[in-house]
Amino acid sequence: MSLLPPPDYRPVSYSRVTLTELMIPGYANFGGKIHGGTLLSLMDKVAYAAAAKHAGTYCVTVSVDGVDFLQPVEVGELVSLLASVNYVGRTSLLVGIRVIAEDVRTGSVKHTNTSYFTMVAKNEAGQPTLVPGLILETSIDTRRFLEAIKRKELKQRYQEDFAAAREMLTIDQELNLLEGQRCKIGY
Ligand SMILES: CC(C)(COP(=O)(O)OP(=O)(O)OC[C@H]1O[C@@H](n2cnc3c(N)ncnc32)[C@H](O)[C@@H]1OP(=O)(O)O)[C@@H](O)C(=O)NCCC(=O)NCCS
Repeated sequence: MSLLPPPDYRPVSYSRVTLTELMIPGYANFGGKIHGGTLLSLMDKVAYAAAAKHAGTYCVTVSVDGVDFLQPVEVGELVSLLASVNYVGRTSLLVGIRVIAEDVRTGSVKHTNTSYFTMVAKNEAGQPTLVPGLILETSIDTRRFLEAIKRKELKQRYQEDFAAAREMLTIDQELNLLEGQRCKIGY
């Protein structure tokens, strides 16, 4: 068997993946709804599948953005996670994941969340390795790629701004921010 090197570019459709899983009682929390952690684990799995397929190598999860569970998922629902590579850098890939849950009795489908996983491709030595470029096949692919660039820029800016704000934070001068908050100084 010959292992060909990955091509320079791969189309978005090449690595698009859908993972569907039935929500069984063992996935539920004490309130009878599906654990957020169960969904996160499935999201990580589908992100890996899409990233590794595009890269043609092993990938690791580096960062997760936009995990807001908009609606609870119930036991018995059929959850589908639709993943595609939205953006590639040199060694990193941004995988967009749309999670939907279907009530199999009524056929009604709800959108529970859309999240973004940054994955990095690794070579045999465990070092980040170059991934193929992305062929944008539709205007939706182009929009997602552009959105990813914006998301990256905004995240970078937020991290810098927050680091600066944290650096400048002095407890004595900011105590007024606690007014109206539900806390008490207990020391
Ligand atoms: C992420 C990791 C590969 C970065 O390694 P590194 O030697 O610092 O490599 P680099 O600085 O060259 O970064 C590699 C890529 O990751 C990206 N990256 C690094 N940290 C990132 C972060 N916090 N968010 C988004 N992207 C990040 C870089 O932008 C770079 O992308 P590019 O090549 O497309 O430009 C390394 O820290 C690692 O292996 N972390 C553990 C990941 C893991 O095991 N995850 C499983 C969960 S436990």
